[in-house]
Amino acid sequence: TIELKTLLGSTGMTTLDPGFGNTASCSSKITYIDGGAGVLRYRGYPIQDLAVGSSFLEVAYLVIYGELPEPGRLKEFSDKLRENADIPEDMGAFIDAMPRNGHPMALMASAVNTLAAYYDDSADPADENQVELATIRLMAKLPTIAARIYRNSIGEEPIAPDPSLGYVENFTRMTFGERRPDGELGELFGKAVDLLLLLHADHELNCSTATVRVVGSSQADIYASIASGVNALSGPSHGGANQAVLEMLDEIRDSGVELEDFLERVKNREVRLMGFGHRVYKNFDPRSKQIKNLATQILDRDDNPDELFELALRLEAAALKDPYFTERKLYPNVDFFTGVIYRAMGFPSNMFTVLFALGRLPGWIAHYREQLHDPAFRIARPRQHYVGSPERRYPGQG
Ligand code: ACO
Repeated sequence: TIELKTLLGSTGMTTLDPGFGNTASCSSKITYIDGGAGVLRYRGYPIQDLAVGSSFLEVAYLVIYGELPEPGRLKEFSDKLRENADIPEDMGAFIDAMPRNGHPMALMASAVNTLAAYYDDSADPADENQVELATIRLMAKLPTIAARIYRNSIGEEPIAPDPSLGYVENFTRMTFGERRPDGELGELFGKAVDLLLLLHADHELNCSTATVRVVGSSQADIYASIASGVNALSGPSHGGANQAVLEMLDEIRDSGVELEDFLERVKNREVRLMGFGHRVYKNFDPRSKQIKNLATQILDRDDNPDELFELALRLEAAALKDPYFTERKLYPNVDFFTGVIYRAMGFPSNMFTVLFALGRLPGWIAHYREQLHDPAFRIARPRQHYVGSPERRYPGQG
């Protein structure tokens, strides 16, 4: 149990709220979550309706601009992204020069940070046209950056964006080239990536989005703010959990440990059950339900069942039978089933969080932009509860 304390100082009252569990730091119109009821809506539209009827690009537009695109606007948006997907040659060389076995999230954050240097004509937060141009550039170029980092990591030549392809198709082509499946499987693959990106598009004041807002509150440019969001996402308590889940499943499989014994280790606090638990959802995570359905469609084939998916299902069932998890309201979160899908598609586990970042980008952009127009906008500056030494004398000063 986290204790909330109210502290009185010479400048007024301060609330001590570790991890901001009970603190709202802004008003927002972007995403609504009811954690008890498992409700998630982007701009008022339930996530499950968007998952069935929409596409990642349409949802990105909705999240960023506030409304579903009028007829013609989605094509215009998509055309702008195609036109801007290239990165400058010297930026490509910069990415190529980074350690090829470095974690892709570290490389991606560095690359995003440098966008401000390559495109300083779109880095002024006070100029709406520049913020709009940066929005297009970020959305257009992040898949190109991600794919280049991946190609470098496997020692293969980068593949330039193809302006004739759609957003997700272009990304998977730049990533896998000829290895991208075609036909029915290719279509299923493309739809799955699209849906996964859509389900990650925003999630109100999660750690990385809160970071984007905090950095942006100092009037830092959008590229710097979003690079900070990429870094915040990389941690295993946040977006890095999708990689950690796969590593946990691999370890359970390879060691042959019984699931009950593994869960005992979790209960003894030796390890965390990765992909379980959430600050806001205390019943179920609606994204996890959608992702489990998707995994079932893709991986639960009678002729060729996926070993890791089966293991994840058994682990989930074992945890949900155990009062340790139910009493603490710990359920699978968005990261529990994504990794098994990405692995089956051929993504290495250190790319999983990069895929999360591609999905979360519209949310980061939307929050950065919303904050600029917030009448209550002021620099983020939390207070602290000082527990250090009282005043003392420096030696020799009396
Ligand atoms: N495994 C084991 N125990 C857990 C887990 C877990 N995954 N998550 C929470 N608990 C326990 C805590 O130890 C605590 O127990 P206690 O009351 O006996 O001390 C209780 O459940 C409450 O947990 P908190 O730590 O207060 O939860 P908090 O809201 O601070 O943390 C978090 C949420 C970080 C997501 C946590 O559940 C966790 O570490 N999960 C595993 C990592 C993960 O999957 N992260 C992805 C989250 S979704 C996202 O960011 C995209």
